[in-house]
Parts: sequence; C-alpha cells; structure tokens
Amino acid sequence: MANWVDFWNGEQSVYVSPRHMQAYYNTLAHNIKRVVGGKRPYTLLDYGCGDAWAAGELAASGISVVLYDPVPNVAARAHTRWGATPGVRVVDSLTEMGPGSVDGILIFSVLQYVSKADAAILVRELKHYLAPGGTLYLGDIVRPDTGMIADVRALFVAGFKHGFFFDALMGLIKTFFSDYRRIRKEQGFSTYTEDEITQILVQAGYTVKRLPNLGLSPHRMTFEATSS
Ligand SMILES: C[S@@+](CC[C@H](N)C(=O)[O-])C[C@H]1O[C@@H](n2cnc3c(N)ncnc32)[C@H](O)[C@@H]1O
Repeated sequence: MANWVDFWNGEQSVYVSPRHMQAYYNTLAHNIKRVVGGKRPYTLLDYGCGDAWAAGELAASGISVVLYDPVPNVAARAHTRWGATPGVRVVDSLTEMGPGSVDGILIFSVLQYVSKADAAILVRELKHYLAPGGTLYLGDIVRPDTGMIADVRALFVAGFKHGFFFDALMGLIKTFFSDYRRIRKEQGFSTYTEDEITQILVQAGYTVKRLPNLGLSPHRMTFEATSS
C-alpha cells in the first residue's frame, strides 16, 4: 500500500491514499469477521474483490477466501498480491468453483457498476455457488438520493476518526481533476432504494435482512441475503 492508487473499477480515477485504504479494509475485515462469527470452516467468495487488502486478515482468522474480479488488470493485481497467500485463492472464472462450494459471498461496493437488470441476473447466478443456507453480503450500496455531499461528509468523518483527514482532502482534490466524473457519466452508476434491492433479492429466492453498512460509509447500505 505504498502509493496513491487509481482504485475504483480498474479504470476509474478515484484517488485513495494508503492510510485511507488501510482504514477501509481494516473496517471491512473487522465487520466481515463480526457478521460471519466463529463459523469455521467458512469459505467466502469476494466477488469484485478489487485490491482485496482484507483478504490476508480474513485468511489469518481461519476464513478461506476466494477472490474474483472480472476486470483483467484488477484480477492480475489480485494474482500477484494474493496468489501465494495461504488461505487465499484467486480465480479467473466463477466456474472454477463447484456448485454449493462457498458459505458466503461478499459483493462490496460493486453494484454501482452493475445495471439493475444485470444485478438481478447476478444474484440468481451466485446462488448456484452458495451452500444451502449460505449468505450474500451486498454492501456499500448507494441510494439514489445520496448526493456528493453525503459521500464527502462520510469521507471526512472517517478521515478524522482514522487519521487520514489530510489524505482524504488531497484525494478529493486529485479526484476532482481526474477523469472520474466523465467516466462515471459514460459508464453509468447504478443506485438502489432499499425496496428495489430487497425486491431483486426476494425475487431471486433470498431472505433479506438489512445490516449496518460493513464499510466506512454509514449512509450506504448493506444487506444480508440468505439463500433458501
Ligand atoms: C469500488 S471497487 C470495490 C472493490 C472491492 N470490493 C472493495 O470493496 O474494495 C469496484 C470493483 O468492482 C469490480 N467490477 C466492476 N464491474 C463489475 C462487474 N460487472 N461484476 C463484478 N465486479 C465488477 C471492479 O473491477 C472493482 O474491483
């Protein structure tokens, strides 16, 4: 975690400092371990894993972590970084996993890049890989009424709390002068109401429960969806 990175979505240019990243992934790892509890053995697929800096801590706690990201340069980074870590496996295709082979699937800060129609297909497809009674954790879901101000406020609050306030400010300035807004406009950015995401999950055959968000942004939403 040595440099400022082009973090989101492989191509998008939101700048996140190492200290910010560390706080982001520490919080995520801590909250995942809390919701998963002491269930071991436990296999967790991190779908759209990004840089996956939580993987080491999760694996060290006894969770078997499977990393998958469909964006080639992100997947390549995951291989390089985590390929040799005990308890972590990086897959290039979901078909490398057997049916019913994972206890939980984390989809964190990913659905904004997926259209609503594709999200409905995705959560159905992922059921195939979940063990009976397995759980999807869909987190960091952005509501349609969330403006930039809510995101900026959450960023500064987290920065103040976790000691990266100045980095957060720098990141915001760098992002402002990057291609982020143009790319976000071109590629689309999906937002969901609580009812919309619940409906998508219920229609796919999940039982849904709202949880506090697993990440650093409390105004975003997390849902626990249990496969029946
Ligand atoms: C904001 S990052 C989040 C990464 C990671 N989940 C985290 O919380 O740090 C979004 C991730 O979604 C991935 N992604 C983009 N489109 C996707 C899709 N259609 N399905 C799965 N992942 C996707 C990107 O490659 C990127 O790694």
